[in-house]
Amino acid sequence: MKTIGIVVNGVTGRMGYRQHLVRSLLAIREQGGVELRDGTRLWPEPILVGRSERRLRAVAERHGLERWTDDLDAALADPEAEIYFDAQVTSARGPALRAAIAAGKHVYVEKPVAQTLADTLELARLARAAGVRNGVVQDKLFLPGLRKLRRLVEGGFFGRILSLRGEFGYWVFEGDWQEANRPSWNYRAEDGGGIALDMLCHWRYVLDGVIAPVRSVTATLATHIRERVDEAGERYAATADDAAYAIFELEGGIVAQINSSWATRVFRDELVEFQVDGTHGSAVAGLRRCRVQPRAATPRAVWNPDLETPEDFRGQWLEVPDNEDFDNGFKVQWEHFLRHVADGDPFPWDLLEGAKGVQLAELGLRSAAEGRRIEVPALELEREGAPA
Ligand SMILES: NC(=O)c1ccc[n+]([C@@H]2O[C@H](COP(=O)([O-])OP(=O)(O)OC[C@H]3O[C@@H](n4cnc5c(N)ncnc54)[C@H](O)[C@@H]3O)[C@@H](O)[C@H]2O)c1
Repeated sequence: MKTIGIVVNGVTGRMGYRQHLVRSLLAIREQGGVELRDGTRLWPEPILVGRSERRLRAVAERHGLERWTDDLDAALADPEAEIYFDAQVTSARGPALRAAIAAGKHVYVEKPVAQTLADTLELARLARAAGVRNGVVQDKLFLPGLRKLRRLVEGGFFGRILSLRGEFGYWVFEGDWQEANRPSWNYRAEDGGGIALDMLCHWRYVLDGVIAPVRSVTATLATHIRERVDEAGERYAATADDAAYAIFELEGGIVAQINSSWATRVFRDELVEFQVDGTHGSAVAGLRRCRVQPRAATPRAVWNPDLETPEDFRGQWLEVPDNEDFDNGFKVQWEHFLRHVADGDPFPWDLLEGAKGVQLAELGLRSAAEGRRIEVPALELEREGAPA
């Protein structure tokens, strides 16, 4: 058994606590660590970091952890800490990440890496220059629904892929008569909020990784709910977009449209669903499920508004079986990152890949501001060669 110290910053947050600490690092400990190439098991030892000692102690005691501090520099100075992980609010990430890279730690961070492409590329360059291994969370790639969708693409199910339509979102309460179901910083642009910055990062790697590379974006953004109530019960002005309606052109002429909204009510089977239409078949994939309709089973729809529709359209789709065990997506990616650090296994989801997500968000924001379609150029760092 080999222990690896991991500084976990932002562990009191929604993502830091539930997905990264409990569902990933502690779940990895429960299964006895991660097996390395030579058969040794790697045991993650979280060192909790945050702003409130009291809250950190509470988390540590709840899970029998022994190490926590509100002093990031002290945590980074610890030679046993080999990895720095960051799930803080986006606006706090840059300075902490710089300090971690300067301390020679391998770094793994939530998305978006930073609020601007320039800042994200600068961090990717710093990590490369320091020779530290680096990664960005791209959890949706490991979801069962999207893994099955990727299986269909790789198996040639679709013939020629024509288009994708994605619907993401749910109602986020304003915070007045019912508590908001997301943190208030999400609705303030000055604090790194906004659904475009949040979700276009995800859509970049989902489209690039599952369907085809993104070549252009046209977006319309809205701030539908203009005033909300924060965690302290104070009213505040929503300065960030809460809905992003985007069209992406992908390589091969594929047209992808994805609506992302925190101001919509769900009439879907899952909180996100993608329909992919191809010449030989179509699929609808969500977080967990994926259903298909092949060419040969396509009904002949006839437009007649005078009659009740005779078809049970939803009932005509086939469930794609799992055919494998799907673990929590955040945990699967953590295991990849730990093997990348310990064994040098490939890890394609590095800071530069993460920068592509921030780039798409930034171009989406610009497209909306200028009212035009914008092409997505290759990132500069790519021409200089991949980061370490
Ligand atoms: N991969 C995903 O699916 C996914 C989903 C949601 C959020 N995220 C990302 O994870 C990060 C955290 O999001 P969250 O929803 O967990 O947020 P959250 O508000 O629940 O948690 C934020 C964490 O940052 C800490 N923090 C540090 N400086 C802060 C400051 N100045 N103000 C407020 N909090 C501060 C908080 O103490 C807390 O631990 C964000 O970058 C977000 O974009 C990713």
